[in-house]
Amino acid sequence: MPTVTLHKLGQTFTDEVGPRTNLVVRAGIRQFPYPNLRYECGMGKCSKCACRVIAGAEHLPPPNWKEKKQLGERLEQGYRLTCQLWIEHDIELAQDDVPAAAALAGASAGA
Ligand code: FES
Repeated sequence: MPTVTLHKLGQTFTDEVGPRTNLVVRAGIRQFPYPNLRYECGMGKCSKCACRVIAGAEHLPPPNWKEKKQLGERLEQGYRLTCQLWIEHDIELAQDDVPAAAALAGASAGA
């Protein structure tokens, strides 16, 4: 069973999940990583679920078109859309304190 580690707000949350687990689906039914994973649409449209993959990225499939559209150059920094991932191996993720989209909006608003 894959072990998932999530770093968020200076804390670390770890649990085992079943094979081919989608963490946003799990959070939606109030199982780990609920309530610590931020998400919204569950469909690759909002980027609120974006996490940086710290370990285990080699087991993930290449980003799909939704991830490419939402994340752009952040893909190269290791970000993925958690709602688009079905976890089959151990993985370690970190979610920024501020949603990436809000951070980008703030950056452009200040420009
Ligand atoms: S929850 Fe909206 S993109 Fe993942």
